[in-house]
Amino acid sequence: MKYLAYILLIVVGVACSCSSDKEAYVPISENKELEFIVPSNFPEPTYNVKMNPPTEKGFELGKKLFYDGRLASDGVVSCGFCHIQDFAFTHHTHIVSHGVDGALGTRNAQPLHNLAFMKEFTWDGAAIHLDLQPIIPITAEVEMNETFGSIIKKLEERPEYVEMFAEAFEDKKINSDNILKSLSQFMIMMISSNSKYDKIERNEGSVFTADETAGFELFKSKCASCHSGTLFTDQSYRNNGLPVDTLYNDIGRKRVTGLASDIYKFKVPTLRNIELSFPYMHDGRLKTLKDVLDHYSDGVTDSETLDPLFRNDDNTISGIPLTEEEKQYIITFLKTLTDDNFVNDSRFSEF
Ligand code: HEC
Ligand code: HEC
Repeated sequence: MKYLAYILLIVVGVACSCSSDKEAYVPISENKELEFIVPSNFPEPTYNVKMNPPTEKGFELGKKLFYDGRLASDGVVSCGFCHIQDFAFTHHTHIVSHGVDGALGTRNAQPLHNLAFMKEFTWDGAAIHLDLQPIIPITAEVEMNETFGSIIKKLEERPEYVEMFAEAFEDKKINSDNILKSLSQFMIMMISSNSKYDKIERNEGSVFTADETAGFELFKSKCASCHSGTLFTDQSYRNNGLPVDTLYNDIGRKRVTGLASDIYKFKVPTLRNIELSFPYMHDGRLKTLKDVLDHYSDGVTDSETLDPLFRNDDNTISGIPLTEEEKQYIITFLKTLTDDNFVNDSRFSEF
């Protein structure tokens, strides 16, 4: 079997039992559960899909909310404003994202895909559950600068939202819980698993070129200790030797744990669709993949939390020595992680 069907339940949505109160006017149509399919080369999801199973109506609602500027105080900065599908849902033109009234954040927008398989979210792991993650951008002054109370009021004024919430959720309510659940239903369906790399991993008939094979071998020996497994991240927090930024003084994981040993550590990012999600690193400081490899070979900078992998036995800095040719091979391999099906999948598109 090519795919493991994680859930294959079809449920009939909310049937309206009432006849006298005004809810009876809301046309309730059938709400089917969507199939959440775990690709055969993926691990089991960390998201508890049974607790919030994506449904047709919940997904459509989550998508509408994702692309709706009403979630921001200025009516413009939707989730999709910073997370653009063509670039694997990143804000590619922006080094650090910018939110309402052009307010600048301090971090580069992360790609959104395969979130159902991640344990923690954001560059420093500040969000420990996907359902809670959107609270950060919604309420952050430099992002959407909004409150749930105000969003709920705005949504209640829109008949289409009253109807959609009623169809998507049994309690029919427009509340923060249902807003967050529907956003998660949309986001967990965003699975990127059809790159050339995947097709090779699943023996679906593709083969690497000689250069890609050379790159893959180099990658496995030099990069995969951190960017490991089919998600290309071990989901740990590490310091990969970027010079400390004096502009934002972003302390990384220490912001969450308070531990001195976590200063300047950031979550090891996935490398799926990396060709599309430039610029790179938590603050978008590196423009190209070549810049990234130049950093690993020549730019790794010492600090007390630098990952031991970048040191020699005598404690001096080794970085990851690479020839120009080796860098090109690795870049060629990284491009096999691009999933055109995903970035063109109309299920996730605004229009
Ligand atoms: C102003 C730009 C901006 C807006 C608007 C925005 N985001 Fe983000 N998003 C970011 C940035 C920047 C990060 C990285 C945050 C960090 O590390 O602190 C991020 C991170 C995330 C992550 C974590 C991904 C991961 O792999 O850990 C998720 C999920 C996410 N955003 C979803 C959303 C949703 C849903 C909305 C709308 C409610 C939204 N974002 C609105 C910029 C934005
Ligand atoms: C010791 C662990 C470690 C090793 C080894 C490592 N990386 Fe990374 N990588 C990281 C961390 C941590 C980050 C995020 C750093 C940040 O933004 O502050 C990162 C970021 C990246 C990014 C930017 C991703 C993005 O979304 O912006 C790319 C590309 C990358 N690494 C590729 C590689 C390649 C290629 C190799 C091998 C030559 C490699 N890495 C080796 C830990 C590692």
